[in-house]
Amino acid sequence: MCGIVGHLGPQNSVDVVIEGLKRLEYRGYDSAGVSFISSDNELVVYKKKGEIVNLITELEGKDVKARSSIGHTRWATHGGVNDENAHPHAEPERGISMVHNGIIENAGEIREDLTSRGHKFKSETDSECFLRLVIFHLDEGLHIKDAIIASFKRIQGHSAFVILYKETDEIYAIKNGAPLVCGINEINSEVFVSSDPYALAGMANKIYFPENQVLCHLSPSNQHLLNFYELDGEKSTRYMSKKQNLDHDPASKGDYDHYMLKEIFEQPELIRSLTQFYFSGEGRASLEAALDLPRANIHITACGTAFYAGIVIKDFIEKENRISCKLEVASEFRYRNPVLSKDELALFISQSGETADTLAAQQLCKDYGVKTLSIVNTEGSTLYRDCDANLLIRAGVEIGVASTKAFTQQALTGYLFSQVIKEGGFTDSVKNALSAKLALLAERIDNLLAREEEIREIAKSIYQYNGFFFTGRGAYFPIALEGALKLKEIAYVHAEGYAAGELKHGPIALIDDQKVNVALVGTELFEKTVSNIQEIKARDGVIVSIGPRDNKELKEISDYYFGVELEGLGDLAPLCLNVVNQLLSYHIAKLLGTDIDKPRNLAKSVTVE
Ligand code: M6R
Repeated sequence: MCGIVGHLGPQNSVDVVIEGLKRLEYRGYDSAGVSFISSDNELVVYKKKGEIVNLITELEGKDVKARSSIGHTRWATHGGVNDENAHPHAEPERGISMVHNGIIENAGEIREDLTSRGHKFKSETDSECFLRLVIFHLDEGLHIKDAIIASFKRIQGHSAFVILYKETDEIYAIKNGAPLVCGINEINSEVFVSSDPYALAGMANKIYFPENQVLCHLSPSNQHLLNFYELDGEKSTRYMSKKQNLDHDPASKGDYDHYMLKEIFEQPELIRSLTQFYFSGEGRASLEAALDLPRANIHITACGTAFYAGIVIKDFIEKENRISCKLEVASEFRYRNPVLSKDELALFISQSGETADTLAAQQLCKDYGVKTLSIVNTEGSTLYRDCDANLLIRAGVEIGVASTKAFTQQALTGYLFSQVIKEGGFTDSVKNALSAKLALLAERIDNLLAREEEIREIAKSIYQYNGFFFTGRGAYFPIALEGALKLKEIAYVHAEGYAAGELKHGPIALIDDQKVNVALVGTELFEKTVSNIQEIKARDGVIVSIGPRDNKELKEISDYYFGVELEGLGDLAPLCLNVVNQLLSYHIAKLLGTDIDKPRNLAKSVTVE
């Protein structure tokens, strides 16, 4: 989805903005642009369809030294993918340019109104309406700050805007329901704004998360680099701030070919640190706050991979605590007039904390007076700020569009929550038992990762088949769904996740010698799952089984068998098989030559409906 970066400070602002935009590439985009005030005091704009490299080529040989600039990566919603519709939108003669994330819902009406008053639009976007509105108010004699506020009050929908104004060499930013962060580097007297704190990592040592309808003012004054205002012009304190380590460099892939692979390999370490965070570290207070919320029933809502983690968590909570959990994808839940009651809990799972449908579902529950809890990766995200309590998954920045480590950490955070409900608190014995359990899982995943080459060999044998069915029963069913999602999103091949016993109710008609069944087999319901494999084998399907190690029966019925040490893992065993799926999908995609970290048509953070 769209990305915003703005910077004001002594070092070359254009370089800073381009670096920030490159970091946001992972979110998905189709054009990029930058606007700045040149050394001869002209407001200039360069924007190009396609990748950031096109923009960089366009800038070559130009005077691109500036103290202030704003940039944008666009993921088209209104208007085609072309240079004109790319951001920033600008009126250089008036010394103003702007970038926008989100959707202006009343853009049609505003465009008609302003056009009838003689304003000329240069693009087909809804975004440009905001620029034209600001110019309209400047023409009326309003100060730039008031012109922005008046324009903001007129628009409807969820948006974030960043405006560069030449006359005062200032940047303004404001949002409603869309992500926006500001940052300061106190040592270098620099100030930043972005749609994603990741763009500012290592650059800003203090990060600010403004609330909705707070005007952020970035100014070149050394004393007041950043100010916040309410819409009535008064100073605002409605923001959250946190210190950030300047040494932190999440942008590096290290020795890995892809971020996805790096993130798969990070899992054991992240798992090990989770119990420490929740039992001995900062996380404990948040877990206690979560335990205080009512939970007669739990409504779990999320999208994509986070939704599949929700199925895993539902199983944990229902099995251990007999608390009924209802699960629904956020895009359906938000429009379904769900039955909710105030003694229930609404749980939202999200890596980004900015997924539009998940946020809308959370808002709906809040409006009903139902307490809301998040299991979320991004501290300070909209979901994090809006929920009554939050359980951080501590996965670190996830760059690969295909979610891997976030899924594991989401499931495990839900597991800890469920276990603490069951045990009724944080005794040493609970802490030790859970730490040992997660440490064992981490060790088993380490062992699997060391066998990457074996998984690559299986991938080599099957990558040219044209259809994949991931199957599993019980706790392995959500792993099948997640496995199929991973494969289709990064390898662009058709894959479906099915409950193993359900295949014969229809999809088995598709099975022939060109279809692969990736069978996820646990020790529970083992014989029944094997029977389901036999049904596919009898119809010439190619069998890849991932299941208990040294299992003769499974090995014999499979074309390819990958044995995993599952003993002692109990309910966490399916998470081990999920890592095998992650590596299998990764290697199939690599053999097929797809863009693994930034698959076509996808965005990391889906901030529009
Ligand atoms: O940021 P979120 O966890 O809310 O994102 C939800 C989905 O968009 C996300 O999990 C998506 O399905 C991933 N691309 C899956 O790998």
